[in-house]
Amino acid sequence: MSAFTGSGISAESGIPTFRGDGGFWEGFRAEDLATPEAFAGDPGRVWEWYHWRRRLVAEAEPSPGHTALADLERVLGESFTVITQNVDGLHQRAGSRNVVELHGSILESRCTECGRVEQIPDDAEGIIYCTACGGPARPGVVWFGEAMPPQPWRAAVEAASRASVFLVIGTSASVYPAAGLIDVALAAGAFTVEVNPEPTGASDRVHRVIRAGAGQVLPAAVREALGGG
Ligand code: OAD
Repeated sequence: MSAFTGSGISAESGIPTFRGDGGFWEGFRAEDLATPEAFAGDPGRVWEWYHWRRRLVAEAEPSPGHTALADLERVLGESFTVITQNVDGLHQRAGSRNVVELHGSILESRCTECGRVEQIPDDAEGIIYCTACGGPARPGVVWFGEAMPPQPWRAAVEAASRASVFLVIGTSASVYPAAGLIDVALAAGAFTVEVNPEPTGASDRVHRVIRAGAGQVLPAAVREALGGG
């Protein structure tokens, strides 16, 4: 079994999703903030947006949905992978260990000159510079127009291919190639289940749709699956 998650699972932690009312993209154009061109044009502005989001995440707690998936991994072990599009690290903070981060991490910077990846200090402000070579660093995330890094993508395809059950939780399934993992799982014969209060790009091709928030269904479903009633 594996789970493919998006920003909806962090909505119950108080982190806005990307699309829809109150979403991250509502007041901003993605091209203004989450592209290599935006960063080249105004790195300070892009860094400020990421610092703001990072502080929001630091003040948040994992949601009941995050915790339920961590509980599932404790029982299923390494056969259970969380493949996430989220960059907030909340799956790991809930206790999940086997996590594939497709879009990188908001908690990390990556040097644009030597490639060194570093944890961003909690109180960081402004443009971050590499502690090794002094070069300007960028947020350690994948932006629009950038290729997915090969290592997490390979791990995600592998997990989606061997899953007998593939949960699709809290994602609009509108951003590719990530959303293509649902098709990988389907082609490999997985039973696919969507957990989302709203219809998505995946709703008409999954086997089962649960129209509810992650926190409304996952804790009880996991308890039941694990024999806790
Ligand atoms: P979206 O904002 O596109 O979708 C969020 C989904 O979460 C929607 O389908 C909501 O209905 C659903 N949702 C809201 N509350 C929920 C809850 N309590 N439980 C379950 N689902 C809930 O966010 P993503 O699909 O994550 O990429 O977006 C995918 C990618 O687009 C992101 O990784 C990011 C963004 O641009 C990059 O930055 C590269």
